[in-house]
Amino acid sequence: MAIQECHLTALLVTSVVAAILGSLQVGYHTGNVNSPAKIIEEFFNQTWKERHNETMSEHSLTMLWSVSVSIKDFGALLGCLGVKYLADSFGRRNSILIVNCLSVLGAGLMVASKTIEAFEALILGRLLFGLFCGLVMSLNPLYIQEVSPTLLRGAFATLNQVAFASGILLGMVSGLETMLGTEKLWSVMLSLSLIPALAQYLILPFCPESPRYLLINKGQENKADAALLRLRGSPERVLVELEEMKGEAAHTKLSVGIFQFFSKRSYRQPIIIVLCINLGSQLSGFNAIVNYSTRMFQAKFDEAKYLTLGVGAVNMIFTLVAFFLMERAGRRRLLLIGFIFIALCNLLMTIVDSVVHLVPELGSLQVLLVFCLISAYEVGPGPISWFIAGELFDQPCRSIAMAFASMLNWGGKFLLALIFPPLLKVIGGYSYLLFMVMALIGFAFTWFRVPETKGRTFDEIAEEFRGAENLPLHNKNGFNTFS
Ligand SMILES: *[C@@H]1O[C@H](CO)[C@@H](O)[C@H](O)[C@H]1NC(C)=O
Ligand SMILES: *[C@@H]1O[C@H](CO)[C@@H](O)[C@H](O)[C@H]1NC(C)=O
Repeated sequence: MAIQECHLTALLVTSVVAAILGSLQVGYHTGNVNSPAKIIEEFFNQTWKERHNETMSEHSLTMLWSVSVSIKDFGALLGCLGVKYLADSFGRRNSILIVNCLSVLGAGLMVASKTIEAFEALILGRLLFGLFCGLVMSLNPLYIQEVSPTLLRGAFATLNQVAFASGILLGMVSGLETMLGTEKLWSVMLSLSLIPALAQYLILPFCPESPRYLLINKGQENKADAALLRLRGSPERVLVELEEMKGEAAHTKLSVGIFQFFSKRSYRQPIIIVLCINLGSQLSGFNAIVNYSTRMFQAKFDEAKYLTLGVGAVNMIFTLVAFFLMERAGRRRLLLIGFIFIALCNLLMTIVDSVVHLVPELGSLQVLLVFCLISAYEVGPGPISWFIAGELFDQPCRSIAMAFASMLNWGGKFLLALIFPPLLKVIGGYSYLLFMVMALIGFAFTWFRVPETKGRTFDEIAEEFRGAENLPLHNKNGFNTFS
């Protein structure tokens, strides 16, 4: 693809990079809590002792720590509820700037908790930060897709996942005992997310608002025209894209409420697609296996710490692979490849798990399988599940769709964290078979229903679903084929 054809300008790249500084922070606070867990628990214990003149029991301490960790994902689930209101009232870019306050405030509280000796501040800080996670992981793909030219839309949206995965790796590294995960420095470690947050405040205000939002949601053609000219740099290109946007505007209502979103016939198929892709990605075990792998490594290897870092590194590298493949292979093919390999890895995990006590050497094979599963997830289902909703819906309900997809993602993750430990206790390694089934459902559904969106304008994609207005759900019109 020639660069001119893609209409890649410096301002476009700057806008995308400024936006993904948010996901970098989300990743950072996901990766940095595991290593220093014991040290921060000890801080809880000490604070409690100074206040109440008694130490905390092992049990309450473990409980309090799990609450502190999982409250972030709970906050994220709540945060999704605000996406539509913010994105449609203040605009995509401004909403990202607004929610960045939550990150600054949350990180500030986490850091202050050590100085003021109050673990409540740390928990509250993580809750606020969680709200930020839910909001920004929907707002970012929304903004990025709306400012990107069609031929780069998926690749740039995947950059959001690259930033998220890089954040996780950075968090893991800085949380190490040899880095900042020490009794003295852990609060400094938590404060580092303020750097990208402040950088975003310096850069993003100078980037343009989404032209689609300005034109279709607000009806401000002049502003949309100016924003698009800044992003593309070529007036001819602006004309072509404005025409396409007006086409989309002509086909849609001004605004869509939540009720209409779920009841309109032409949205039904995309809703089911989003539901299946997101639940398939989340419930096929990725997060549970990644979290559990740390313990699995610790039980078996002396170098567990470095294997865990390896998980973070493989995770990041394969988001980059997805970035390079997204516009070449297309969403469908990457989803299919991802799901089938996740299913295969889960099947092998079950087999290895049931014979590993006979042949202990197979332990290293388990590590390899964890790495394969991570690669399969990040190459397709991981990044695509975060942005596909933006491509499948038209402008008035794109923000609701993103919020809906995010809720499924965070909710699925939350549910998995809740059910995996008891599941593992009851049926052991056969849990992976359940994950395999979920991945296969994702695969089958993608095969039969998910359209290729690569290289198509928003209006072209929406047109396929508008056809469903008078047709049964399973309308086959040569659409579900590899392009
Ligand atoms: C703390 O508790 C111990 C016994 O548990 C008691 O001897 C001591 O006086 C208490 N100190 C304060 C300041 O209440
Ligand atoms: C809390 O700290 C005290 C020492 O101050 C220690 O004896 C106790 O084991 C700690 N509790 C836990 C659950 O780690």
